[in-house]
Amino acid sequence: MANDEGVIYEYVWIVIVSAIVAGMAASLAYYGIALDLNPACNATPIDVGTLTENFQPGVKQLGPGIYQVNILAGQFFWNPNKIVLEDPVRIEFRITSKDVVHGFEIVGTNVNVMVIPGYVAEFVWEPPKNAEGKYLIICHEYCGVGHQFMQAELEIKRTNTLLSGDSIGTTDDLGKFSEVKYLEFKGVIVDEG
Ligand code: CUA
Repeated sequence: MANDEGVIYEYVWIVIVSAIVAGMAASLAYYGIALDLNPACNATPIDVGTLTENFQPGVKQLGPGIYQVNILAGQFFWNPNKIVLEDPVRIEFRITSKDVVHGFEIVGTNVNVMVIPGYVAEFVWEPPKNAEGKYLIICHEYCGVGHQFMQAELEIKRTNTLLSGDSIGTTDDLGKFSEVKYLEFKGVIVDEG
């Protein structure tokens, strides 16, 4: 009879372990589906040796409210280090590093991406309607003695309230502006009050 008792304990453990695994899977699903918190970045390989020819830092306007922002990271700079966007609805970021691993963070927002040499981090950020003014960009990954000086600025100017709304068209319209398949995430401004 001692054996039967052992079997019962086995079943009890199977139930407990299954419940834990189901709980973890459910929390992943909850974060991914309900809260829309997903890995928000593609990583396209790029040859560090040919960055000068194949990667042009700067801001390109692709359409009304639609921008592509190419940023080159290096010890200890972001290029460009001053980005001004008017009425951005959709910002396609492409960020790469010429040397070591850096971390791209727009302080006060949910933009936070690892920048790894040999890859272009690609993601779309849809800034929320209340995003306005100057945002500090920092490096959040220790990259050397000048790490704490690695800063830039993003300024969002609001001139056209129509563009700040949801009136930008359909996803199909947006698709033709870019050949890159991006993962996307909704912008959040952290309430610092
Ligand atoms: Cu770049 Cu820290």
